[in-house]
Amino acid sequence: MAYTIDKIVDLLNLEDFGEVYLEADRVRKENVGDIVHIRALLEFSNYCKRRCKYCGLNCTNKSVKRYRMSPEEIISATYEAAVNGYKTIVLQSGEDNYFTPKILGEIVKSIKKFNMDITLCCGEMDYDSYECLKECGADRYLLKHETAQNELYEYLHPCGTLQERIQCLKNIKKLGYETGGGFMVGLPNQTAKTIAMDLMLLKEIGCDMAGIGTFIPHPNTLLRDRGHGSTEMTKRAVALTRIIMPKINLPATTSLGVINDKEKVDIFSCGANVIMQKVTPNEYKALYEIYPSNLAETNIRLQRIKLENQIKELNRIPL
Ligand code: 5AD
Repeated sequence: MAYTIDKIVDLLNLEDFGEVYLEADRVRKENVGDIVHIRALLEFSNYCKRRCKYCGLNCTNKSVKRYRMSPEEIISATYEAAVNGYKTIVLQSGEDNYFTPKILGEIVKSIKKFNMDITLCCGEMDYDSYECLKECGADRYLLKHETAQNELYEYLHPCGTLQERIQCLKNIKKLGYETGGGFMVGLPNQTAKTIAMDLMLLKEIGCDMAGIGTFIPHPNTLLRDRGHGSTEMTKRAVALTRIIMPKINLPATTSLGVINDKEKVDIFSCGANVIMQKVTPNEYKALYEIYPSNLAETNIRLQRIKLENQIKELNRIPL
């Protein structure tokens, strides 16, 4: 079936979505099987030069204490994740000019020796920088497009345009990275049509992964008084993404679990096949506050075991 904007809008607005969830689960099983990929997430710097209106790390927020992990700290936290069974490290940060492609590239090279896949999630860069990092050994790059609606994008992002964002994603794809896009559900003035456009954009770019998260208001941002997004709508968007792009990797995004811990479990029956586990050291973890959440203390070994057991309880296979 060809999925048009109108068709997706109709599906998103269904009274009873039950059949679509079942279809998404079937498509997931047939195309990516029962494996749930566990990724270690290391938030290595909360410095950010941008002013995104929804994000607690935006540079106008003066009440957050900024930190930068040293290359040694990054490498040693990643090593600990590797020896505890993690096969992928996601290195995430704000847009921090300190970490030039050269510095980050050296870190990537060192980590490659642990035989891990490396995902970078460090924002927008020029083509040459993405190329340099790819040559150093980075395998995947995550850069959510956040919203495919032009006016909404520009309202939310005083520092950039949707066109620039899409160009970055196209560059990332062209360079041979496994490419991750994604967006938020529940942004102000977002409609079902906006979400349909988000799904079409993921497809147009040819994303290999998509992080679809629920918007959660942060008290130190301009959007503080908005309500959080709908978890039901988030799950519907995930399910439809699975159906439209059968082989895509879809994480159960952390923001779902922030609102309701049960949702995070549920999402695995709606098409998701990936989960990220924070391995950020305790001294930094609470400072990486994109949105407010209750964080457990990091214990890389115990949390890995716990997560594997939770996945097995869902009759799925942790990897
Ligand atoms: N609520 C939900 N998700 C958010 N992000 C940033 N701020 C928020 C928020 N308030 C997401 C963005 C970004 C990712 C790292 O976190 O989608 O790409």
